[in-house]
Amino acid sequence: MTTAGFDPVAFKAQQKDNWNNLSSGWDRWYDLFESGAAPVTHRMLEQARLVEGARVLDLGSGTGQPALDAALLVGAKGSVVGTDQAGEMLGAARRRAVELGLGNTEFLEVDAERLDFEDASFDAVTSRFSLMFLPDADAVLARAHRLLRPGGVLTAAVWSTAPRVPLLSLAFGIVGARLGLGAPPAGVPGPFSLSDPAALTGRLRAAGFAEVAHEECPLIFAPKSAEEFAEFSWDLLPGWLRAQVAQRFGDARDPRTWNAFLSAAREFEAEDGTLRVPGLSHCFTAVKAG
Ligand SMILES: C[S@@+](CC[C@H](N)C(=O)[O-])C[C@H]1O[C@@H](n2cnc3c(N)ncnc32)[C@H](O)[C@@H]1O
Repeated sequence: MTTAGFDPVAFKAQQKDNWNNLSSGWDRWYDLFESGAAPVTHRMLEQARLVEGARVLDLGSGTGQPALDAALLVGAKGSVVGTDQAGEMLGAARRRAVELGLGNTEFLEVDAERLDFEDASFDAVTSRFSLMFLPDADAVLARAHRLLRPGGVLTAAVWSTAPRVPLLSLAFGIVGARLGLGAPPAGVPGPFSLSDPAALTGRLRAAGFAEVAHEECPLIFAPKSAEEFAEFSWDLLPGWLRAQVAQRFGDARDPRTWNAFLSAAREFEAEDGTLRVPGLSHCFTAVKAG
């Protein structure tokens, strides 16, 4: 479901550029992000019912998760295919697979809307924080259903609404307000576009899945300081927004925007100066009838 005038082809090309440009930032902040996101990854892989030898397909693997943790669980007899259309994000994922000594993992640069695998060839399909960027998520869910063997499981995590995910939305909110940007139109893919659990539950059922379960998966991110949170926020701001900041305020690191990041970040300061930034995600399990 998208809005009139939305061009999915142009959108995907822009997404590919965006994520390729952001890959060094996501790589830089991998440890901070993963230490917060670990409970979601853990829960997803638990729900995927992975056993040694299982075959797993991960959609939108980015810098590697949850594909890498899945590969550790399924062992040498199993296999994981991580996929993403942004090759530079996958560069980081491949490097991590080598560092972890994983011989059972491959990462393929492919659009999730153009998957070319045999039907019923996977025991599990996973996707963490990626489905919301797909213009035709319904087609991808239906394809994932076909790619699973009977009894196979899809697990997916998506973000809740922007106010419930300040780690990511704080920077967008501040920059959007400084630039006078409106909210994205409803129906356009984006980080918070699948935040309605009832709607995604219905879409998973419509894709053919039998048992569909949803649960809230809360997270805590812990930047060491407000400065670190502000750095994280700058690094992960899409290039087109950074360019608009530079154009409007004459400085890519506009001091007023930076100070707004810092004072918003300080709202999450604990007494010892470290931060505790809460986040909410929604975890879904959907089973293909056996
Ligand atoms: C927020 S990142 C999530 C990455 C990783 N799964 C994680 O949780 O850290 C979203 C990923 O979805 C990928 N993506 C967006 N649109 C895609 C598409 N059409 N096909 C494949 N991957 C896509 C992006 O390139 C990006 O790596």
